Amino acid sequence: MFGDIKEDKTAYVRAVFTAIADRYDLINSLLTLGRDGAWRRFAASKCRISPGELALDVATGTGELARHLSRRNHGSPIVGIDFCSGMLLKARAKFVSSSSDNAIELVLGDVLQLPFPDNTFDCVTIGFGLRNFADIDTAFYEIARVVKPRGRVVSLELTRPSSSPVRELHKFVLSRIVSCIGGLISGSKEAYAYLPDSIRGFPSPERVKEIMENAGLHEVEIRRLTLGAATVHVATKGD
Ligand SMILES: C[S@@+](CC[C@H](N)C(=O)[O-])C[C@H]1O[C@@H](n2cnc3c(N)ncnc32)[C@H](O)[C@@H]1O
Repeated sequence: MFGDIKEDKTAYVRAVFTAIADRYDLINSLLTLGRDGAWRRFAASKCRISPGELALDVATGTGELARHLSRRNHGSPIVGIDFCSGMLLKARAKFVSSSSDNAIELVLGDVLQLPFPDNTFDCVTIGFGLRNFADIDTAFYEIARVVKPRGRVVSLELTRPSSSPVRELHKFVLSRIVSCIGGLISGSKEAYAYLPDSIRGFPSPERVKEIMENAGLHEVEIRRLTLGAATVHVATKGD
């Protein structure tokens, strides 16, 4: 039964991102009121990559967080992985027209079964990916497996503000405005009805911290951005 739910969610999420791949970047900027770039910059700054270190960006999509990482860490090799070929095609098209993104390698694959050996990366990032995973616990076990001891894991995710009035306003904007504008621009109303649902049903930042700790990640720091509309988790793998 549980297996079926996971398979359903995997197929559904892949179909959603295939449907919106062409307009994903535009819609993301509009719907976060342009904050997405600043949030990704902040997340990239938390990776603390030294020259020559290797980073992995999971659920890389159109590669925006991977680009921030690449620009911040000139010359450091970065691997981006995603299971939606439509999103990776958009990333590839952007990278060929920008010489500064040469160090990013794109891989088609599943976060729940990462095709990399243990202890490979100095840092792993996840940008707006967690909500979409069919199994967050397994995702963090896989991420913790491929990051080196003392390596960093940084996740940026959309969340619900914690204070009541802001939370109500946020709920209204998500349920009425986001699904409507997103649906109109992307041509897929269903895909953007999924966004508010996925934020509503997502575990609290404190619960995400526990899941990270259970997977072997430590020193988990929670940073709320823009009144809690987004949250960054920063963690380190134990020795
Ligand atoms: C909201 S987009 C985020 C894209 C990008 N990281 C960003 O910062 O905008 C979520 C991405 O997660 C990918 N995804 C969801 N589940 C996945 C999985 N199990 N394995 C690989 N990619 C996955 C989707 O295909 C989609 O491209």
